[in-house]
Amino acid sequence: MSTPPAGKLPLPELAAMKRRGDKIVMVTAYDAPGARFAENAGIDVLLVGDTAAMVMLGHESTTVPVTVDEMLLLTRAVALAARRPIVVGDLPFGSYQVSDEDAVRTAVRFVKEGRADVVKLEGAGPMVSRVRAIVEAGIPVIGHIGLTPQSATALGGFRTQGKTAAQAMRLVADARALQDAGAFMLVLEAVPAPVAGHITHDLDIPTIGIGAGPECDGQVLVYHDLLGLTEGHLPRFVKRYANLSAEIRDALEAYAADVRSGTFPDDAHAYAMSEEELASFETAIGGD
Ligand code: KIV
Repeated sequence: MSTPPAGKLPLPELAAMKRRGDKIVMVTAYDAPGARFAENAGIDVLLVGDTAAMVMLGHESTTVPVTVDEMLLLTRAVALAARRPIVVGDLPFGSYQVSDEDAVRTAVRFVKEGRADVVKLEGAGPMVSRVRAIVEAGIPVIGHIGLTPQSATALGGFRTQGKTAAQAMRLVADARALQDAGAFMLVLEAVPAPVAGHITHDLDIPTIGIGAGPECDGQVLVYHDLLGLTEGHLPRFVKRYANLSAEIRDALEAYAADVRSGTFPDDAHAYAMSEEELASFETAIGGD
């Protein structure tokens, strides 16, 4: 890859943070304002996640339908606004599963058109070869194991993964395989904390947890979940740091009430014209 623009967090810094024991902070972002808020808050990594399907595009409880073109639009908006944070393009379902060639082609689009710094994809097994192919094409890759929402149906729903010793051993093997294939970081989703802790200590590359306990090298949450913008049920691992839905509803209700009562707009929010021009205008249109 070419040299990162000045001010961009250099990618090797993430591994250095792991070595120093400094936690990596990641949050999802889907538009330019969200990217700016996150950057101003000192967030290290912005994930333009395919959770966009649910939190931005109205699909209920599935990330599967979001398309490459939809994700590219959101990724570019985030990438154009973010200066320092590393921007991750999340490859959507169907855009990399079929072949290594497909995977490389899609990853190239995310970097060229979406302006992502790196990409993320879900799964291990056959996906290990996709990771290797994309890395060989010069694009850094983040792996994602545990609960992989794109294959939630096959996993029996949105459930914790790795709860039996055998499943936990599988996750350890998958994590090693992804690291060996060249992934520079790994998201662990909905994995018991001791299993995520073991994987974190076992790997040289950083792990980012979401529902994977405190021992991961960093954490990620969905922007809308942590800010209280998501309605309805939230997974156990979400911590809400604000209740913005209530603030937005109150503001919109107040606006609607002001419009209906005629209180808005008042003089402070309207444009005036000089008495003289007003008089000429009224004469011109035949007023008194
Ligand atoms: O798409 C996404 O937002 C994700 C995170 C939940 C890790 O993959």
